[in-house]
Amino acid sequence: MKRVTIKDVAIEAGVSVTTVSHVINETRYVNPDTKLKVQNALEKLGYRPNSVARSLRMGTTKTIGLIVPDASNLFFAEVARKIEDFGYQQGYSVILGNSDNDSDKQTNYINTLIAKQVDGVIFISAGGEVQDLQQLLGNNIPVVVADRDVPLEMVDVVLLDNEKAGYDATHHLLNLGHECIACITGPNDLSPSMLRVEGYRRALSERGIAFREDLIKAGDFRFKSGEVAMRELLKQSCRPTAVFILNDMMAIGAMTAARKEGLSVPYDLSVVGFDDIEIASAVIPALTTIAQPFDKLAESATSLLIERMKGESTQEKKRIILDATLVVRESTCQRGSVDA
Ligand code: RIB
Repeated sequence: MKRVTIKDVAIEAGVSVTTVSHVINETRYVNPDTKLKVQNALEKLGYRPNSVARSLRMGTTKTIGLIVPDASNLFFAEVARKIEDFGYQQGYSVILGNSDNDSDKQTNYINTLIAKQVDGVIFISAGGEVQDLQQLLGNNIPVVVADRDVPLEMVDVVLLDNEKAGYDATHHLLNLGHECIACITGPNDLSPSMLRVEGYRRALSERGIAFREDLIKAGDFRFKSGEVAMRELLKQSCRPTAVFILNDMMAIGAMTAARKEGLSVPYDLSVVGFDDIEIASAVIPALTTIAQPFDKLAESATSLLIERMKGESTQEKKRIILDATLVVRESTCQRGSVDA
């Protein structure tokens, strides 16, 4: 079907192409009668602006690229949803790329966003990101890095205070009398996992409790890895009475493993997760966890990027560090408590 052009609209309305363009782009006053004729013709013919031509003319595509490591993880799903909300409110469409924790796929998405001439990118790394970021910056595309830190001073960054959050989660279990506290980590080449483990170690050290390698198991931030890691921990002679798990997806997997071993959460095993994804309050028992500030993370990253895209930011790069909140629910209890 032939695409309706501005010329078709001009003929239908009996006006010049220039007049049609001024009505569409509101670039000059057009008398009401003529404007109405053009609007009626636009509607009758079903005219849709050519976004590529408009972008070339305006020097902007009004689009933001968003790269996340795993769209199936409810943390990234909630962050993406809020970034899309804030971007749309500011007149931007958001193009989501799921790198699936794969650095090659991440690079492919970066190249696609450059080709589509997005106005800016919010980037949550799957790892191995330095060349990707340099590629974006080399094409004069502003970037804001969110959630996972990168070894570059060249971009704005919005992060969580992960070390303090890991400390708070562990401190909560210590205050419940637990001393044999295990930890199921995420991928330890990623800053959030490394820093949360540092907070866990600081809390133990403050209480004079030795860090034990046999109580640390690595996961990959996905459900199954939490279940597998928990099963390994429960096979050990000195079974932990509590476990700090570095995201809710793995925590729910770990609770599944405990249940399959016939253990009660929290009475045999207290569990603390991380993120406070929507389902954390709905599982049984409801998960004690560290709540990430989804709104602040999304709004800070989007606002920073739009300021950059509009050239309204000062030169120096910004580093915004957000605080998390411990949310106590039913998956933790005093050590030695019994089910009433
Ligand atoms: O659940 C995914 C985890 O990876 C979250 O804790 C988030 O911080 C991301 O880095």
